[in-house]
Order: sequence, then C-alpha cells, then structure tokens
Amino acid sequence: MLYLDWNATAPLAPEVREAMTSAMGSGWANPASVHAAGRRARSFVEDARQAIAELAAVDVRDVVLTSGGTEANNLALRAPFHGSGVLVIGATEHPSALKTARALATEGVTVVEVQPSERGVIEVAAIAAALEAHAGQVRLVSVQAVNHETGVIQPSRAIAQLARDAGALVHCDAVQAAGRLPEELWRGADLVTLAAHKLRGPKGVGAVASLCGVKLQPLLRGGDQERGVRPGTQDPIACAGFAVAARRALGGAARYAPIEALRDRLEAGLLRERSPGGPPIVNGTAPRAPHVSNLSFPGWLGPELCAALDLEGVCVSSGSACSAGTADPSPVLSAMVGLERARSAVRLSLGEDTTELEVVEALAAFHRVFARAL
Ligand SMILES: Cc1ncc(COP(=O)(O)O)c(C=O)c1O
Repeated sequence: MLYLDWNATAPLAPEVREAMTSAMGSGWANPASVHAAGRRARSFVEDARQAIAELAAVDVRDVVLTSGGTEANNLALRAPFHGSGVLVIGATEHPSALKTARALATEGVTVVEVQPSERGVIEVAAIAAALEAHAGQVRLVSVQAVNHETGVIQPSRAIAQLARDAGALVHCDAVQAAGRLPEELWRGADLVTLAAHKLRGPKGVGAVASLCGVKLQPLLRGGDQERGVRPGTQDPIACAGFAVAARRALGGAARYAPIEALRDRLEAGLLRERSPGGPPIVNGTAPRAPHVSNLSFPGWLGPELCAALDLEGVCVSSGSACSAGTADPSPVLSAMVGLERARSAVRLSLGEDTTELEVVEALAAFHRVFARAL
C-alpha cells in the first residue's frame, strides 16, 4: 500500500506509539482523581499541555484540550461572540470553521466570508477591505495557516497584524501547518487550533491555545475539567501521545523541507501524463507546503480516479477526509477555480516516511490507470 494522504491523517510516529503503550500501563486512572493513580494519569495530561504551550508559544494555563481540531475550531470561533459583532473568515477554511461561522450567522453575528484568489490565497488586501467595510465592528478574523486541500500557505502573519491594528482578535487554524512549516506562521495569533493526529499523534485529541486574556465559552456543560471550558474526562493515554507529537513537531519544518523535491518529482511526472480530457492542471499555484499537490484531471471525476488508484494500492483523496463519501465537489477548489476543476481534483499529500521508490511506484500506478482509460 502506498499512503499519499498525509493531510487526511498521519501514521503514529514510533516514539508516540511507544509513549502511548507505556501510558496504557501507568496512566489509566481518572486524571481528575486526587489520589496517586489519578495524579499519575494527570501528569500525562499536564505534560501534553506543556508541550502544546511550547509549540504555540502561549502560557501553559491558556491551553484547552479538546477532542480534536473540529472542536477546537468551534470553541475558538465562538470565543468573542454573544449574538452580535462581525466575524471575518476565509472562504477556504476547514468545514469545522466555516460551518461554525455559518451557525454564528444564524445567531446574530455578521459573517463576512473572504473569497480566495485563483491561486488559493486569502489576500491581505481582501481582509483589509472587509475590515474597512466593517470598521470598529470586527471582533475576530479567522484565516488558517495552510490550506488542507491545496497546501497553499496563507499570509497569516500579515493578516494577524492587520486584524490587530483594527482591534480584532485573530484565530489561526494551524492543524495542517504545525509540524510541517515554521512556527512563525501561527505564533502570534490570539487563538490557535491544533490536532494531534496531523502531527503523527493520536486521533481524538486537539487543543485551542490562546494568548492570555482570551476567554473561551464552553460548548458543553459538565465538570470542571479544562477549567470548565471543556468538561469531560481527558484521555491521559492520548495526551501521552500528543505530548511526544507536539515536541517532535517543533522540528517539523526541517523534516518536511526535503519532501518538496519528492513532491515536485511526483507532480512533474503527473503533468506529463495524458488523462482522457487533456493534461492535468495544478490547483493552488501560490507558495505551498512542501508535501502537497492538488491536481485536476480533466475527463475524470476525482472520486472515481481515487477509487481506480485505490485498486492499484495508492491511497489519495479527492477532497478533505471529512467530506469523503459525499458527492459534493470541494468547496475550497470551487471557490478558487470553479466547479468543473473541483470535480476532477485529486489531492496527493506526502509525508516524512514517503520514499523515492514510492513516488516512482505511484507514477506507474497513475500511468496504468490512465492507459486503461484512453
Ligand atoms: C485545517 C483543518 N482544520 C481542522 C481539522 C479538523 O481536525 P479533526 O480531524 O481533529 O477534527 C482538519 C482535519 O482535517 C483540518 O485539516
């Protein structure tokens, strides 16, 4: 099996697996219990909090553990709103952010969705225009660091500065950037979303890291875990894995940089292929994360091409994993390059373990699929 879907999720790093296996033996107790077993379990939770605080450059008291990136985005976007005010958000955000924004719109918040350029960028000028049109009313600007489908790097630092000058808070969904690109991209935002499973940690755990003074509103009612902001018993075993994943993510950009050459080789090979409706087209031509290639293959439906490649043992996707199984074309690509190209798109995302041989084998698999279709 050739796994080229690292943006959907990444395999557990060996040291993460080791930490989790060990925590299964010693950290099974309830981390809220005050006795020794509970305190041991709690040490895993607090160690994860510390590692996340370092990754996001926030105070350890300002890290709230969640069930993943989705819940973190829900919490972060709701933070400054009580039924009024303006939210400015990129139209290419992950559904967990965009759908939260659309829910807020039904609750009295004015939501401005900023459209991307054809190259996949939420332009600083477009954010500036939205801030100007709603001067003094914008409470939050939310733009992710790296797009999950195209890998396009967003101008998050410039946007953060602009938002701050306009008196708004800034949220940065760093789920696809952390562990893969330099930390500067998301550091400095008031609210940062992270998910362990994209860092080679476990699924089902994530975090909102915020700068001091930003208050979150609980989505759930219950106990006092996570200072009451996120009630519910934390999973110490998942936290043991998250701690290791977050620490290794600090060196992630250096590990990912060499993948660019492999990605470029794969992309160049695919661009030389003839698919039934003409040559493939790259989606997201702005500067990108080094491991992502999103291509439209004219004459194909993305999900059909993915299925044909799956039969060849190649795992890729035609959109974000959370939309898998729906017939809808990617909203990200639809906004960038239109419906037609979105329908025929396939995302390839490489990772730290991808080898040159795998790239060669993936190209051969594509070639066989195309040859059968011509
Ligand atoms: C950019 C981005 N944000 C948020 C999420 C949601 O994270 P989770 O799967 O942990 O809920 C994802 C998952 O693909 C993502 O790519």
